[in-house]
Amino acid sequence: MHFELSEEHLMIRNAAREFAQNELLPGVIERDTHQKFPHEQVRKLGELGFLGMMVSPEYGGSGMDAISYVLAMEEISKIDASASVVMSVNNSLVCWGLETYGTEEQKQKYLKPLAQGIIHGAFCLSEPEAGSDATSQRTTAEDKGDYYLLNGTKNWITSGGTADTFLVIAQTHPEKKHKGINALIVTKDMPGFTVGKKEDKLGIRGSDTHSLMFQDVKVPKENRIGEDGFGFTFAMKTLSGGRIGIASQALGIASGAYELALKYSKERKAFGKEIMNHQAIQFKLADMATEIEAARMLCFKSAWLKDNHLNYDRASSMAKLFASEVAMKTTVEAVQIHGGYGFVKEYHVERLMRDAKITQIYEGTSEIQRIVISRDILK
Ligand code: CAA
Repeated sequence: MHFELSEEHLMIRNAAREFAQNELLPGVIERDTHQKFPHEQVRKLGELGFLGMMVSPEYGGSGMDAISYVLAMEEISKIDASASVVMSVNNSLVCWGLETYGTEEQKQKYLKPLAQGIIHGAFCLSEPEAGSDATSQRTTAEDKGDYYLLNGTKNWITSGGTADTFLVIAQTHPEKKHKGINALIVTKDMPGFTVGKKEDKLGIRGSDTHSLMFQDVKVPKENRIGEDGFGFTFAMKTLSGGRIGIASQALGIASGAYELALKYSKERKAFGKEIMNHQAIQFKLADMATEIEAARMLCFKSAWLKDNHLNYDRASSMAKLFASEVAMKTTVEAVQIHGGYGFVKEYHVERLMRDAKITQIYEGTSEIQRIVISRDILK
């Protein structure tokens, strides 16, 4: 077993850290307050190759491994989880799905600009009545011969208002239940596709989350990913990797809050000494550091399995379950260590606490992760 990062991994981590400090930190509070999408920053993430990290250079990607992805996601998420969710969805849910299951034509046409970061994408599974219960898709993709007629509504779609390419999960053969579901590539210029209301969220407020409406959208047959009926398996496989991204985002939110709490505890004096000299604070810091390290190991383990082409379904759910709970707990403690300062925006930890919550909800709630893990244990 080898726990050391390679030179290349360290370089990637440093590049992501520098980018986060120089490009994301300035303005992060303002973007959060006014729900401003980080357009310029996402464009630069694309230029640096962070939007198609694991895609082969042949299709415009950076050809990096999943460990590099975890490292970059942690660093970006320490500072701005609104930017990192755009990165995670584009890398894990959109690019990975297209590269793994797309046709050569789909890769040339859709994957390349997404991996190059010229545009970014969205993954559309959740519906008003199908969030956790993903097999109950109400959106329909009626087979009309050489095209699908797409009708329905998707909810809580990350990058719904800014993406150009959408992977939409829809039901074609209701009698076949989840085996009748398809995944279709939809572009924002297709007639009948409209972007609905933008959600006013508790956290990751710089990212844009929308409902999307499809009314008689004609999607060419060549835009279907995989065989007829492959859509649900496609969604499950894609989400399995997506959970490594969100686990790493949660890890970053936790380690960002921890680093701020550690710094503050060295500066702030109470009862005649820096608060780091009080055991109440020391014990909190010890717990935070230990849990963050354990979360990081779970992220690395799932990424390692993925890099080695081994099954990572259980590992990615474990990483997401644990890291998201660590993110919530750590950010609450970081606010506590900051006292009154922790409750105001200027000190960043209150934003990290709000951002942490979504990591327990999207790409499968903590309860969904427990279902995936327990089924795998008991099978
Ligand atoms: N790989 C391949 N196939 C899989 C799979 C996987 N990882 N997981 C399940 N399947 C298959 C099963 O084998 C089964 O196939 P068969 O019938 O052929 O055996 C089929 O899928 C149905 O599986 P289940 O019977 O287990 O289905 P279920 O309804 O009991 O629940 C679930 C499955 C795991 C709970 C699933 O519904 C799930 O993951 N739900 C959560 C969905 C989710 O994560 N939503 C988040 C939205 S995306 C998002 O948040 C993106 C964003 O914008 C940030």
